[in-house]
Amino acid sequence: MKDNQIQQRDQWGSKIGFILAAAGSAVGLGNIWRFPFMAGANGGGAFVFLYFAILVLVGFTLMMAELTLGRHTQLSPVGAYRKLKEKWAWVGGLGVIAGFLILSFYSVIGGWVIKYIVQALTGAFTIADPEVLGGIFGGFITNPTEPLIYHAIFMILTLGIVIGGVKGGIEKYSKILMPALFVMMILIMFRSLTLPGAFEGVKFLLVPDFSKITGGVVLSALGQVFFSLSLGMGTMITYGSYLNKEENLIDSSLQIPLLDTAIALIAGLAILPAVFAFGFDPEGGAGLLFITLPAVFSQMPLGSLFGVLFFVLVLFAALTSSISLLEVVVAYVVDEKKWNRKKASIVFGGLIFLMGIPSSLGIGVWEKVTIIPGLDILDSVDFVASNILLPLGGLLLCIFIGWVWGLDNAYKEVTNDGKISFPMMKVWGFLVKWVAPIAIAIVFVQGIIDVFK
Ligand code: PHE
Repeated sequence: MKDNQIQQRDQWGSKIGFILAAAGSAVGLGNIWRFPFMAGANGGGAFVFLYFAILVLVGFTLMMAELTLGRHTQLSPVGAYRKLKEKWAWVGGLGVIAGFLILSFYSVIGGWVIKYIVQALTGAFTIADPEVLGGIFGGFITNPTEPLIYHAIFMILTLGIVIGGVKGGIEKYSKILMPALFVMMILIMFRSLTLPGAFEGVKFLLVPDFSKITGGVVLSALGQVFFSLSLGMGTMITYGSYLNKEENLIDSSLQIPLLDTAIALIAGLAILPAVFAFGFDPEGGAGLLFITLPAVFSQMPLGSLFGVLFFVLVLFAALTSSISLLEVVVAYVVDEKKWNRKKASIVFGGLIFLMGIPSSLGIGVWEKVTIIPGLDILDSVDFVASNILLPLGGLLLCIFIGWVWGLDNAYKEVTNDGKISFPMMKVWGFLVKWVAPIAIAIVFVQGIIDVFK
């Protein structure tokens, strides 16, 4: 695909193709791996409550803002900002950096998923003992070389798809595999919920204990909304840029976040009840998915088969997200530096792979290295990207749309020049111009003070 400003840009093959791809970007490890462990580590219900509040005030708003900017300019982030206001191009660049950082550790976790497909294939999911499962997982992730091999495999898969281009690579499989993942997760959730003692987990996840709320917890919830919805770094600007002018942005901006949140909640309800039923630690961190679900599979008929299928589908979901991360970086060098897509994908995929190595080693041999107090390298890179760069990108986007480009221009784009009605238009405008940026700024400042104090 050679998409630059002069040539005709690629467009989505169909409406459903775009929705699936954008939802594919949103739904990924952020929902299945990150949401449950973040909720576990940040007070359960309190975190989920905050997540919802931020979703309503900021999530939908920014989804629409990004898609609007992308479709209007038909350019990836740097070009999009530049086209409307020369001086703002660097904000797009911030997103490229965020994408680079996120993919570096995302690919490490994606590698763990591949490893667990292999585990399941070899019939390892027959044990429900927390100690044993924790031992197996710990042994794997602290090994200096094995996780790197899987990290490399994940990156090569990501690269391969991105080289294939927008239509060919992304749309084809989503139509079958995304619904399959959905059904599979619901089955696992039911098994989890019917385990003895599971109800404690449901209460933990859904009943907020407001005394648990701190600046750090609110910042984590904010970071989770951005991460999970793929916001704040221009992914949705890039995907929106492949949309044609007839598409209804309003529907998409509601549907994608709703679907994404549903999947995160289902994942939470699959994992946390099992955490309580088997006596794992809800604050167990990044390993929660990999330690608890094998225990759930051990309690299901045909558990190993379920395990294989589940991790294959999670891998697919992770890939539909990782390609969107790499796409932001690649679209930048293709559009701005006129590289060809293949070269850009290979060079940057390779660099991102290298960048991920310290994250992987930081769990084992380099565990003493800390960047952010109390966090290992992977969690630190995650923190900087998800809790700092993404909210910053979102904040700047709001300021840009609300104050620089102007709401009237945005309204015109959202409503396809007044052709579709948007009853909540003024509400959205108010959210973009005032509520979202102020909310992000407050959470951001409070959270950073809290974490570094
Ligand atoms: N939203 C993706 C997930 O939940 C991760 C992602 C973040 C993708 C930012 C693109 C941009 O897994």
